[in-house]
Amino acid sequence: MSAAGPSPGANSAPTGGSAAAKPQAWGDDMSAAGPNAPVIAIDGPAASGKGTIAHNVAQALRFHYLDSGSLYRLVALRAVERAVAPDDAAGLTGLTADLNVAFRDGRATLDGRDVADSLRTEAVSTVASKIAVHPAVRSALMARQRAFRAPPGLVAEGRDMGTVVFPDAGLKVFLTASAEQRAERRHKQLITKGISVNIDSLLRDIRERDARDSTRAAAPLAPAPDAVILDTTNLSIAEVTAAVLALYGEPAG
Ligand code: DC
Repeated sequence: MSAAGPSPGANSAPTGGSAAAKPQAWGDDMSAAGPNAPVIAIDGPAASGKGTIAHNVAQALRFHYLDSGSLYRLVALRAVERAVAPDDAAGLTGLTADLNVAFRDGRATLDGRDVADSLRTEAVSTVASKIAVHPAVRSALMARQRAFRAPPGLVAEGRDMGTVVFPDAGLKVFLTASAEQRAERRHKQLITKGISVNIDSLLRDIRERDARDSTRAAAPLAPAPDAVILDTTNLSIAEVTAAVLALYGEPAG
Protein backbone atom coordinates (compact mmCIF):
# COMPACT_ATOMS: atom_id res chain seq x y z
CA MET A 1 0.00 0.00 0.00
CA SER A 2 1.35 3.39 -0.87
CA ALA A 3 1.55 5.87 1.97
CA ALA A 4 0.70 8.70 -0.38
CA GLY A 5 -3.04 8.30 0.02
CA PRO A 6 -5.47 10.91 1.22
CA SER A 7 -4.66 12.19 4.65
CA PRO A 8 -7.49 11.35 7.01
CA GLY A 9 -9.00 14.16 9.00
CA ALA A 10 -9.76 13.37 12.58
CA ASN A 11 -13.20 12.76 13.90
CA SER A 12 -15.82 14.15 11.65
CA ALA A 13 -19.47 14.32 10.90
CA PRO A 14 -20.70 12.26 7.96
CA THR A 15 -18.39 12.97 5.08
CA GLY A 16 -19.93 14.30 1.96
CA GLY A 17 -22.33 15.84 4.46
CA SER A 18 -26.04 16.24 4.25
CA ALA A 19 -27.52 19.56 5.28
CA ALA A 20 -28.41 18.01 8.62
CA ALA A 21 -24.83 17.01 9.33
CA LYS A 22 -23.08 19.25 11.81
CA PRO A 23 -19.50 19.00 13.02
CA GLN A 24 -19.10 16.64 15.95
CA ALA A 25 -17.76 18.48 18.99
CA TRP A 26 -15.85 16.71 21.71
CA GLY A 27 -18.33 15.72 24.35
CA ASP A 28 -21.46 16.28 22.27
CA ASP A 29 -23.71 13.57 23.59
CA MET A 30 -25.10 11.96 20.50
CA SER A 31 -25.44 8.56 22.12
CA ALA A 32 -29.12 9.10 22.79
CA ALA A 33 -29.58 9.79 19.10
CA GLY A 34 -27.84 6.69 17.90
CA PRO A 35 -27.11 3.95 20.41
CA ASN A 36 -28.04 1.46 17.72
CA ALA A 37 -26.46 3.22 14.75
CA PRO A 38 -24.25 0.77 12.83
CA VAL A 39 -20.55 0.74 13.62
CA ILE A 40 -17.62 -0.50 11.56
CA ALA A 41 -14.61 -1.02 13.84
CA ILE A 42 -11.18 -0.89 12.21
CA ASP A 43 -8.27 -1.74 14.49
CA GLY A 44 -4.61 -2.36 13.89
CA PRO A 45 -1.06 -1.45 14.85
CA ALA A 46 0.75 1.84 14.25
CA ALA A 47 1.01 2.86 10.58
CA SER A 48 -1.14 -0.05 9.39
CA GLY A 49 -3.10 2.37 7.20
CA LYS A 50 -6.24 2.17 9.32
CA GLY A 51 -6.68 5.96 9.38
CA THR A 52 -6.71 6.26 5.61
CA ILE A 53 -8.88 3.18 5.15
CA ALA A 54 -11.38 4.19 7.85
CA HIS A 55 -11.62 7.68 6.37
CA ASN A 56 -12.24 6.29 2.88
CA VAL A 57 -14.86 3.84 4.11
CA ALA A 58 -16.62 6.59 6.09
CA GLN A 59 -16.61 8.78 3.01
CA ALA A 60 -18.00 6.03 0.79
CA LEU A 61 -20.83 5.29 3.24
CA ARG A 62 -21.26 8.91 4.41
CA PHE A 63 -20.77 7.73 7.97
CA HIS A 64 -19.26 9.60 10.89
CA TYR A 65 -15.58 8.94 11.48
CA LEU A 66 -13.76 8.49 14.79
CA ASP A 67 -9.96 8.52 14.91
CA SER A 68 -9.65 7.37 18.52
CA GLY A 69 -5.85 7.65 18.45
CA SER A 70 -6.20 11.42 18.12
CA LEU A 71 -7.92 11.50 21.52
CA TYR A 72 -4.93 9.73 23.11
CA ARG A 73 -2.65 12.09 21.20
CA LEU A 74 -4.55 15.12 22.53
CA VAL A 75 -4.07 13.91 26.11
CA ALA A 76 -0.38 13.32 25.30
CA LEU A 77 0.06 16.80 23.85
CA ARG A 78 -1.57 18.43 26.85
CA ALA A 79 0.55 16.29 29.20
CA VAL A 80 3.73 17.45 27.44
CA GLU A 81 2.57 21.09 27.57
CA ARG A 82 1.71 20.85 31.27
CA ALA A 83 4.77 18.74 32.14
CA VAL A 84 2.65 15.88 33.47
CA ALA A 85 4.76 12.70 33.39
CA PRO A 86 3.51 9.73 31.32
CA ASP A 87 3.50 7.57 34.47
CA ASP A 88 1.41 10.02 36.53
CA ALA A 89 -1.94 8.25 36.08
CA ALA A 90 -3.88 10.57 38.39
CA GLY A 91 -2.46 13.73 36.79
CA LEU A 92 -3.21 12.40 33.30
CA THR A 93 -6.75 11.41 34.22
CA GLY A 94 -7.39 14.93 35.54
CA LEU A 95 -6.11 16.40 32.27
CA THR A 96 -8.30 14.05 30.25
CA ALA A 97 -11.47 15.09 32.04
CA ASP A 98 -10.70 18.79 31.55
CA LEU A 99 -9.65 18.82 27.89
CA ASN A 100 -11.53 21.35 25.83
CA VAL A 101 -11.44 19.78 22.39
CA ALA A 102 -13.42 20.13 19.19
CA PHE A 103 -13.02 18.77 15.69
CA ARG A 104 -13.56 21.27 12.91
CA ASP A 105 -13.25 20.37 9.24
CA GLY A 106 -11.39 17.23 10.28
CA ARG A 107 -8.83 19.17 12.36
CA ALA A 108 -8.49 18.94 16.12
CA THR A 109 -8.54 22.07 18.25
CA LEU A 110 -7.48 22.30 21.88
CA ASP A 111 -8.89 25.36 23.66
CA GLY A 112 -9.72 26.72 20.22
CA ARG A 113 -6.12 26.34 18.95
CA ASP A 114 -5.53 24.18 15.86
CA VAL A 115 -3.25 21.36 17.04
CA ALA A 116 -3.76 18.88 14.17
CA ASP A 117 -0.12 19.04 13.06
CA SER A 118 1.34 18.93 16.59
CA LEU A 119 -0.57 15.69 17.22
CA ARG A 120 1.24 13.81 14.46
CA THR A 121 4.85 14.30 15.65
CA GLU A 122 6.82 11.18 16.61
CA ALA A 123 7.32 12.64 20.12
CA VAL A 124 3.56 12.91 20.69
CA SER A 125 3.08 9.42 19.17
CA THR A 126 5.44 7.94 21.74
CA VAL A 127 3.86 9.74 24.70
CA ALA A 128 0.36 8.77 23.46
CA SER A 129 1.35 5.12 23.49
CA LYS A 130 2.77 5.53 27.03
CA ILE A 131 -0.26 7.29 28.50
CA ALA A 132 -2.63 4.78 26.86
CA VAL A 133 -1.51 2.05 29.27
CA HIS A 134 -3.45 3.63 32.18
CA PRO A 135 -6.93 2.14 32.68
CA ALA A 136 -8.16 5.41 34.27
CA VAL A 137 -7.16 7.42 31.19
CA ARG A 138 -8.83 4.85 28.95
CA SER A 139 -12.08 4.97 30.92
CA ALA A 140 -12.02 8.77 30.97
CA LEU A 141 -12.03 8.63 27.15
CA MET A 142 -14.70 5.95 26.82
CA ALA A 143 -17.85 8.11 26.83
CA ARG A 144 -16.20 10.61 24.48
CA GLN A 145 -15.62 7.85 21.96
CA ARG A 146 -19.07 6.28 22.27
CA ALA A 147 -20.64 9.72 21.77
CA PHE A 148 -19.52 9.59 18.13
CA ARG A 149 -21.97 6.77 17.43
CA ALA A 150 -24.81 8.43 15.58
CA PRO A 151 -26.95 7.86 12.49
CA PRO A 152 -26.37 7.06 9.73
CA GLY A 153 -23.41 5.14 11.21
CA LEU A 154 -19.83 5.33 12.43
CA VAL A 155 -16.48 4.10 11.21
CA ALA A 156 -14.22 3.97 14.27
CA GLU A 157 -10.53 3.23 14.11
CA GLY A 158 -7.96 2.51 16.80
CA ARG A 159 -6.67 -0.37 18.89
CA ASP A 160 -9.71 -1.49 20.90
CA MET A 161 -12.70 -0.37 18.85
CA GLY A 162 -13.88 -3.93 18.24
CA THR A 163 -12.82 -5.38 21.58
CA VAL A 164 -13.80 -2.73 24.15
CA VAL A 165 -15.37 0.48 22.87
CA PHE A 166 -17.85 -0.95 20.34
CA PRO A 167 -17.98 -4.70 21.09
CA ASP A 168 -21.34 -4.89 19.26
CA ALA A 169 -19.96 -3.38 16.01
CA GLY A 170 -21.59 -4.99 12.98
CA LEU A 171 -18.25 -5.35 11.21
CA LYS A 172 -14.83 -5.61 12.84
CA VAL A 173 -11.71 -5.47 10.74
CA PHE A 174 -8.16 -5.88 12.02
CA LEU A 175 -5.51 -4.57 9.64
CA THR A 176 -2.00 -5.93 9.77
CA ALA A 177 1.17 -5.40 7.74
CA SER A 178 4.80 -6.20 8.43
CA ALA A 179 6.66 -3.69 10.64
CA GLU A 180 9.10 -3.08 7.76
CA GLN A 181 6.29 -2.28 5.35
CA ARG A 182 4.65 0.05 7.88
CA ALA A 183 7.94 1.87 8.51
CA GLU A 184 8.38 2.27 4.76
CA ARG A 185 4.87 3.70 4.35
CA ARG A 186 5.38 6.14 7.23
CA HIS A 187 8.76 7.13 5.75
CA LYS A 188 7.21 7.89 2.33
CA GLN A 189 4.39 9.81 4.00
CA LEU A 190 6.84 12.01 5.93
CA ILE A 191 8.98 12.60 2.85
CA THR A 192 5.86 13.76 0.98
CA LYS A 193 5.38 16.28 3.77
CA GLY A 194 9.00 17.44 3.43
CA ILE A 195 10.03 15.84 6.74
CA SER A 196 13.25 13.85 6.61
CA VAL A 197 13.61 10.98 9.08
CA ASN A 198 15.74 7.92 9.34
CA ILE A 199 13.83 4.77 8.34
CA ASP A 200 15.69 2.65 10.91
CA SER A 201 14.59 4.89 13.75
CA LEU A 202 11.00 4.80 12.41
CA LEU A 203 11.14 1.00 12.36
CA ARG A 204 12.48 0.97 15.93
CA ASP A 205 9.71 3.36 17.11
CA ILE A 206 7.03 1.25 15.40
CA ARG A 207 8.34 -1.95 17.00
CA GLU A 208 8.48 -0.30 20.43
CA ARG A 209 4.94 1.05 20.06
CA ASP A 210 3.67 -2.35 18.86
CA ALA A 211 5.22 -4.02 21.89
CA ARG A 212 3.78 -1.46 24.33
CA ASP A 213 0.32 -1.37 22.70
CA SER A 214 0.07 -5.18 22.54
CA THR A 215 1.43 -6.11 25.96
CA ARG A 216 -0.33 -3.56 28.18
CA ALA A 217 -2.88 -5.02 30.60
CA ALA A 218 -5.71 -2.60 29.73
CA ALA A 219 -7.35 -3.10 26.34
CA PRO A 220 -4.24 -4.39 24.56
CA LEU A 221 -3.99 -4.22 20.79
CA ALA A 222 -5.53 -7.51 19.65
CA PRO A 223 -8.11 -8.59 17.10
CA ALA A 224 -11.58 -9.24 18.50
CA PRO A 225 -12.47 -12.94 18.24
CA ASP A 226 -15.05 -12.03 15.57
CA ALA A 227 -12.79 -9.63 13.61
CA VAL A 228 -11.81 -10.22 10.00
CA ILE A 229 -8.02 -10.01 9.77
CA LEU A 230 -6.72 -8.32 6.64
CA ASP A 231 -3.00 -8.42 5.87
CA THR A 232 -2.40 -5.29 3.79
CA THR A 233 1.33 -5.78 3.20
CA ASN A 234 0.87 -6.29 -0.54
CA LEU A 235 -2.40 -4.42 -1.05
CA SER A 236 -3.06 -0.86 -2.24
CA ILE A 237 -5.23 1.61 -0.32
CA ALA A 238 -7.95 1.19 -2.96
CA GLU A 239 -7.85 -2.60 -2.62
CA VAL A 240 -8.13 -2.50 1.17
CA THR A 241 -10.94 0.08 1.05
CA ALA A 242 -12.82 -2.06 -1.46
CA ALA A 243 -12.28 -5.18 0.67
CA VAL A 244 -13.74 -3.49 3.77
CA LEU A 245 -16.73 -2.15 1.82
CA ALA A 246 -17.33 -5.60 0.34
CA LEU A 247 -17.22 -7.13 3.84
CA TYR A 248 -19.84 -4.58 4.86
CA GLY A 249 -21.90 -5.54 1.86
CA GLU A 250 -21.37 -2.34 -0.12
CA PRO A 251 -19.61 -2.48 -3.47
CA ALA A 252 -16.84 0.16 -3.82
CA GLY A 253 -17.71 3.35 -5.76
O1 DC B 1 -3.65 5.26 16.15
P1 DC B 1 -2.60 6.20 16.65
O2 DC B 1 -1.22 5.83 16.20
O3 DC B 1 -2.92 7.63 16.35
O4 DC B 1 -2.63 6.05 18.26
C1 DC B 1 -1.70 6.69 19.10
C2 DC B 1 -1.55 5.88 20.39
O5 DC B 1 -2.77 5.92 21.12
C3 DC B 1 -1.24 4.40 20.18
O6 DC B 1 0.15 4.12 20.22
C4 DC B 1 -1.94 3.72 21.32
C5 DC B 1 -3.04 4.65 21.70
N1 DC B 1 -4.36 4.21 21.30
C6 DC B 1 -4.99 3.29 22.10
O7 DC B 1 -4.40 2.83 23.08
N2 DC B 1 -6.27 2.91 21.82
C7 DC B 1 -6.89 3.39 20.74
N3 DC B 1 -8.14 3.00 20.49
C8 DC B 1 -6.25 4.30 19.87
C9 DC B 1 -4.96 4.68 20.18
